[in-house]
Amino acid sequence: MIKVSAPGKCHLIGEHSVVYGEPAIIAAIGKRCAVLAKKSEDVIIHSRELAAEKKYSCAETIEFANNVQKLWDSCFEKKDFSELFELMKKDGMNPVKAAIGKALVSMGVNSGVVVRISSDIPIGAGLGSSSAMSISIVKAISELYEKNLSDEQINEITLGVERFNHGTPSGGDNSTCCFGGLIWFRRIDSKITIKSLKEEIPYAMKNFILVNTGRPKRTTGELVQQVRGLPDVFRTPRIKALGNIAVEMRNILKKRDFKKMKDLMNLAQKNLAELGVSTPEIDKLTKSIMATGGAAKLCGAGGGGTVLCYHEDRERLVRTVRESGYQPMEVELGVEGVRIDE
Ligand code: MEV
Repeated sequence: MIKVSAPGKCHLIGEHSVVYGEPAIIAAIGKRCAVLAKKSEDVIIHSRELAAEKKYSCAETIEFANNVQKLWDSCFEKKDFSELFELMKKDGMNPVKAAIGKALVSMGVNSGVVVRISSDIPIGAGLGSSSAMSISIVKAISELYEKNLSDEQINEITLGVERFNHGTPSGGDNSTCCFGGLIWFRRIDSKITIKSLKEEIPYAMKNFILVNTGRPKRTTGELVQQVRGLPDVFRTPRIKALGNIAVEMRNILKKRDFKKMKDLMNLAQKNLAELGVSTPEIDKLTKSIMATGGAAKLCGAGGGGTVLCYHEDRERLVRTVRESGYQPMEVELGVEGVRIDE
């Protein structure tokens, strides 16, 4: 029996634009997904969040992952992932089954696993719940079957799993859940840069609060596809603007210029709203926080989910969030990545 856990993530800056080769700054958050796993002939999944339990044969699980891979390939050709998203949404267990199947295939394991999944990360809230789960499953299988893969290899396999869930993800979410801390992430075609910002930004990120505005109607993959469907002339300037904001954000965080940081967060929210991934609820909340001299932006794919809020007067921020009808979520930023728990 082994226990592996991985943190969720929160985009300080760079969601959506990161899919187009722009940089992002992403923090691992102090909420984790834990996977208890043991070897077995079959694949047995217990999920606390889905309040469900399922059993599949090992061959069936591997075949499922292979079929999902084929479907991904054909969706990629067509530049339309709707059919894949439908399949993954059809049964809440499908993403878990696909993650296990992909891990078994990638590591050449012809046997099963029992996994017990429990997570503190709200599902579908832009906080990397699927990445944290997938990375924990891949690492658990690597350890159980003594493959001893490096975190880089585990991250690579998990990116394949994330493609099943989100079509063409950047890989920023799984990389943050894997390596933890505060990272600078950029992917230009197949060239990936993952840089820890620990030395540049060694201080604790204070006075940030997360607010969950509710489960989005559309998944991350669907929202990424929606942005891709915008006319190039409209999308590209906003994607570039978000990329420039990420570059500037890295510099001003280094200088601890929190006043400028707030301007950048608010400007990012404006661009993300123009890309169509905000909601009336998020617009209302972000405006209330900006009106008090704070900053707020959606976090992750949007369409609902989490808003990252900042104010140097934390009490005032908490008050504004509560007055807007939400519960502030206090989380540590920059925590440890995937790990084996004793
Ligand atoms: C989702 O958490 C972040 C997006 O940028 C998608 C991605 O990076 O794959 C919207």
